[in-house]
Amino acid sequence: MERSLPWLLLLLCFVLQSRAQPDNTGFISIDCGIPPKTSYVDNETKISYAADDAFTDGGSNHNVSLEYVVGPRGSQRYDNVRAFPNGARNCYTLRSLVAGIKYLIRATFFYGNYDGLNKLPVFHLYIGVNFWAMVNITSLGVVYRYEAIVVVPDDFVQVCLINIGAGTPFISGLDLRPLENRLYPQVNATQGLLLLMRRNFGPTDNSLEIRYPDDPHDRFWGTWDSSSSNDWKEISTASRVDYSVGDIFDPPTAVMQTAVTPRNASDNIRFSWEPVPQPNDPTPAYTAIFHFSELELLTNNASREFYINLNGEPLGVYTPKHLTAGGTYDSEPFERTSSYNISINATANSTLPPLINAVEIFSIISTAVISTDSQDASSMMAIKDKYQVKKNWMGDPCIPKTFAWDKLTCSYPNSSRARIISLNLSSSGLSADISSSFGNLKALQYLDLSNNSLTGSIPDVLSQLPSLRVLDLTGNQLSGSIPSGILKRIQDGSLNVRYGNNPNQCINGNSCKAAKKKSKLAIYIVIPAVLVVLIASVTTLFCLLRRKKQGPMNNSLKQQNERSTSTSHVLRNSGYGDNVSLRLENRRFTYKELEKITNKFKRVLGRGGFVSHPNPAPPYNGT
Ligand SMILES: *[C@@H]1O[C@H](CO)[C@@H](O)[C@H](O)[C@H]1NC(C)=O
Ligand SMILES: *[C@@H]1O[C@H](CO)[C@@H](O)[C@H](O)[C@H]1NC(C)=O
Ligand SMILES: *[C@@H]1O[C@H](CO)[C@@H](O)[C@H](O)[C@H]1NC(C)=O
Ligand SMILES: *[C@@H]1O[C@H](CO)[C@@H](O)[C@H](O)[C@H]1NC(C)=O
Ligand SMILES: *[C@@H]1O[C@H](CO)[C@@H](O)[C@H](O)[C@H]1NC(C)=O
Ligand SMILES: *[C@@H]1O[C@H](CO)[C@@H](O)[C@H](O)[C@H]1NC(C)=O
Ligand SMILES: *[C@@H]1O[C@H](CO)[C@@H](O)[C@H](O)[C@H]1NC(C)=O
Ligand SMILES: *[C@@H]1O[C@H](CO)[C@@H](O)[C@H](O)[C@H]1NC(C)=O
Ligand SMILES: *[C@@H]1O[C@H](CO)[C@@H](O)[C@H](O)[C@H]1NC(C)=O
Ligand SMILES: *[C@@H]1O[C@H](CO)[C@@H](O)[C@H](O)[C@H]1NC(C)=O
Ligand SMILES: *[C@@H]1O[C@H](CO)[C@@H](O)[C@H](O)[C@H]1NC(C)=O
Ligand SMILES: *[C@@H]1O[C@H](CO)[C@@H](O)[C@H](O)[C@H]1NC(C)=O
Repeated sequence: MERSLPWLLLLLCFVLQSRAQPDNTGFISIDCGIPPKTSYVDNETKISYAADDAFTDGGSNHNVSLEYVVGPRGSQRYDNVRAFPNGARNCYTLRSLVAGIKYLIRATFFYGNYDGLNKLPVFHLYIGVNFWAMVNITSLGVVYRYEAIVVVPDDFVQVCLINIGAGTPFISGLDLRPLENRLYPQVNATQGLLLLMRRNFGPTDNSLEIRYPDDPHDRFWGTWDSSSSNDWKEISTASRVDYSVGDIFDPPTAVMQTAVTPRNASDNIRFSWEPVPQPNDPTPAYTAIFHFSELELLTNNASREFYINLNGEPLGVYTPKHLTAGGTYDSEPFERTSSYNISINATANSTLPPLINAVEIFSIISTAVISTDSQDASSMMAIKDKYQVKKNWMGDPCIPKTFAWDKLTCSYPNSSRARIISLNLSSSGLSADISSSFGNLKALQYLDLSNNSLTGSIPDVLSQLPSLRVLDLTGNQLSGSIPSGILKRIQDGSLNVRYGNNPNQCINGNSCKAAKKKSKLAIYIVIPAVLVVLIASVTTLFCLLRRKKQGPMNNSLKQQNERSTSTSHVLRNSGYGDNVSLRLENRRFTYKELEKITNKFKRVLGRGGFVSHPNPAPPYNGT
């Protein structure tokens, strides 16, 4: 027993930690729609994907239509979805985050005719209370990927799907990755980035996608469309490409080992993109990050130096350093325009043509809408979980007002976060004891819990709610006497408590006999309760010690955040270039490409029979 105790505690730690929490890299990786409480490890990345039941309580699971089932492993993520036919707003809540740091949040959508209706939906995505993107599914067999980089203000974040009356929202996958604050300096508390494309120049294999573990931040680096690459040729190196000290974009070395240069040495590198309209913004503002590294060892008299131009106006001049990743970005978004033409051309002094290793292009999204007070929101989520309240209790409790939770009233101060000032859960079928979370709704003025099946005693923490004026506990199964703090508030007239019709309540000592009869029962309850508390305390202590030993992720993040000097160059202007178009569908890949990927990784494309595999693997039999 003594020997097995640590193991038991360890197991308990895992049980307690595994639910809805980041793993030790801080990653949260969800495969929406797989059976509840299951998980699997992705063959390629070794990332563990969890079912989504611990993150949302809306919607239902569906398998994609048979002809779109890619296989048991690999692209397993796109075999099933969670769909939300009910409710205007449905959300995922990702917990145990570090408030105030940057996160990459990525949602993926593969329709695959899961409902057999062949009906492609359009819906809106929100990060917390801020608009993220319009999801416009225009093909059954395409994976749509939406990625944002934002500062998360609380220790949790919600990702919400909004039904706009244009089809049922659904989702295939949801990822969250923490980023050190030195990365993506364009991102701050009020402004985030929405990825348009992240391209690795060089490889001609279209299906090649570099991600975790090559990229420790698990960004996806796709290749450009080879049909528009005829002006370019690849150069590459097998040597390691190092980061500059304090590089603020951390491109993975595998991406920086390849580059393109014009096939005709006197030509330019040109590519372009067009703005993707959003419902509230037909021409979003864009920004780009250009990654460069010299891959050739230059002789003394050789030099490589080039201009980066946007729509014919120079953004800056750059000289790549040998086997060192560096980059440029513009601290201001580019001027809004109907097309963005980039051209990179050699300066008069340069003996070598220009090159480029990678580019990331983002539009700017506002994250200026402020959510409900963090503690109020967390408390409401805890209350919702405890009493399994359904109603419309999804997403932020107060914001936007049109989606505010039923049964509560919020105040909306002009210069601070919304607060919950009244909560009326009368006749709501609540059972169990009164949650101490009510005591964390610090702005509460009115609390009505009448006509439920609440048991146990009245928690004295309620007396510490400074603004509480009415507490209605009528018609429950509460027992014990009224705690002294509340009595005091009753006596000084600051709190009106209604507690009639609680058969076991002893008020002024007169009806306590009933309660005394139950004292034996109380012992039966108390002893196991004490045991549970004891075990919980020991476990928590054990878990804490264990975590301390491992070094909490927060600390390492903070340390990394302190790295700040940068050798990256900040460009001053914005401009625009020319016309070799990079393909814009970088957030998605076609089913054909999926096939290629699956082929490449020898994944089983079983049941659909779309692809003839050289060595067909046996059909997948579940588990
Ligand atoms: C999805 O398919 C699997 C096996 O192919 C099956 O076990 C599961 O019940 C299906 N899920 C739904 C929601 O139909
Ligand atoms: C969705 O995309 C299609 C094709 O690009 C376009 O025709 C349609 O207008 C878009 N829907 C919305 C609501 O913007
Ligand atoms: C975020 O950056 C934008 C653009 O530089 C700036 O206008 C805004 O004030 C910044 N917000 C905060 C909270 O620093
Ligand atoms: C290379 O480009 C220059 C300038 O655009 C042009 O004059 C020359 O003919 C090109 N050479 C070849 C081989 O295409
Ligand atoms: C660089 O120097 C080498 C000899 O050291 C010479 O052969 C070559 O032509 C020179 N190149 C240029 C561009 O001056
Ligand atoms: C290269 O770009 C610079 C800066 O925009 C410009 O002055 C120059 O004319 C360009 N050269 C060519 C050959 O396009
Ligand atoms: C070219 O070289 C000369 C002499 O080294 C220098 O003065 C000039 O600034 C350089 N021009 C560019 C565009 O780098
Ligand atoms: C809050 O803003 C509204 C409208 O902007 C204004 O009418 C109201 O007086 C403001 N309230 C306070 C307390 O500043
Ligand atoms: C609270 O809700 C109950 C039942 O839903 C209702 O009868 C009562 O009037 C409400 N209280 C207030 C102050 O709105
Ligand atoms: C108490 O709640 C039940 C449902 O939970 C409801 O049917 C009943 O009318 C309520 N009684 C009062 C007095 O509000
Ligand atoms: C970008 O290039 C295309 C093709 O050359 C051209 O039609 C378009 O006007 C250019 N855009 C801008 C803003 O210069
Ligand atoms: C994934 O890994 C498992 C176990 O190693 C293996 O049986 C399976 O064939 C792999 N699947 C793919 C698609 O590589």
